[in-house]
Amino acid sequence: MQIILGIPGGIAAYKSADLARLLTNQGHRVRCILTEAGARFITPLTLSSLTGEPCYGANPDQGEWRANPSIEHIELARWADIMAVVPATADLIGKAANGLASDLLSTVLLATRAPVLWAPAMNTGMWSHPAVQANLSRLRSFGHAVVDPDDGLLACGEEGSGKLAQVDAIAEAILMHGAAKLRSLNGKRVLITAGPTREDLDPVRTLTNRSTGAMGIELARAFRDAGAQVQLVLGGDLPAPWGVETARVRSAQEMLAACQARWSGADGLVGAAAVADQRPETFAPEKVKKGEGPENLVLVRTPDILATLSAARRPGQWILGFAAESENHLAHAAAKLQKKQLDGVLVNDVQGGRAFGDQTNTLTPVTAQGPQAPIGPLSKDALARAVVQWWNFQIEGRGTVQ
Ligand code: CTP
Repeated sequence: MQIILGIPGGIAAYKSADLARLLTNQGHRVRCILTEAGARFITPLTLSSLTGEPCYGANPDQGEWRANPSIEHIELARWADIMAVVPATADLIGKAANGLASDLLSTVLLATRAPVLWAPAMNTGMWSHPAVQANLSRLRSFGHAVVDPDDGLLACGEEGSGKLAQVDAIAEAILMHGAAKLRSLNGKRVLITAGPTREDLDPVRTLTNRSTGAMGIELARAFRDAGAQVQLVLGGDLPAPWGVETARVRSAQEMLAACQARWSGADGLVGAAAVADQRPETFAPEKVKKGEGPENLVLVRTPDILATLSAARRPGQWILGFAAESENHLAHAAAKLQKKQLDGVLVNDVQGGRAFGDQTNTLTPVTAQGPQAPIGPLSKDALARAVVQWWNFQIEGRGTVQ
């Protein structure tokens, strides 16, 4: 993605260096534009060194723009897939809300057709002033996005709202708003299960599995960035992704209940969770003491979430499942596709513990048409984006599923 990072003069400007580095490391191209005041807080050299791209100043008369300054702002406006202003100051918010264009950054903001995102940071009194809030409402009415500031101790010593949001959250918001939306997924509601489930034996012991939930979380991000409204039902301890409504669950029964509450409103379901197939027959409210001789643990089956939701689906709803297999992968996947009445199964080769906690992975889709070309090996984020592309292509090719 090609990102323009606008940096006006605010004390949080030093955090935009971190943001520029984070986005560059993720493979995005980042070009920074400093205002005159911004350049007093952070130097162009810092930013261009971190991004490997030119950094632009405020003023062509001082040689701060590159050659051909008369159209530089238009070139930059066209180059951007998204523009983000971090930290967004009251001054620049006010200028942009009123269509003023007095330097390079405000001019590019006016000229661009790319999505624009503001991450404000300022003193609490300034942040809550009706003028600033009215200007932000006006920017929102233009379709601009705002990542609200956090509460906390501000550089001025006051405590309250106005602290720049976390850099990771701003990065995610930039990717979400800047990614090209996929036609058949844009605005669609996608329910995703992810992570392990935990079936408790007593207050200290649990039956679980080696899944971390990383793949399901990356899928949630990828569907979100493709334009879907994602609801994630998540087991395990990984943090929830930004911009995704997340319900945290522990057991298979809780995961099923959370899914059932959301299923009728969804257009599709991705079952990426590693659901424990068995749970202890009873839960002991007090810690179980060890006994003499052999001990038995009686297990009973947990509900099959995909099969239950598949049986309750309305026409047009699609379901993608996963199959973690260590042998005879494609045959097992085809059997699951048929048994649970799914639209696709993504087969994960877990022989020898592969896929759990690994950095890269390969998934082979199986549909009613049979096995398809494997996707990967790719890092989990790239793999998730490739799966979303593949699925979007399937939906487009078939019109609607079912
Ligand atoms: N799944 C589910 N509910 C369960 C078990 C599995 O929704 N109780 C879903 C998983 O999220 C996955 C798919 O079903 O999308 C396949 O899971 P898999 O690990 O292959 O397990 P099973 O279908 O139970 O098959 P088996 O244990 O025989 O391999």
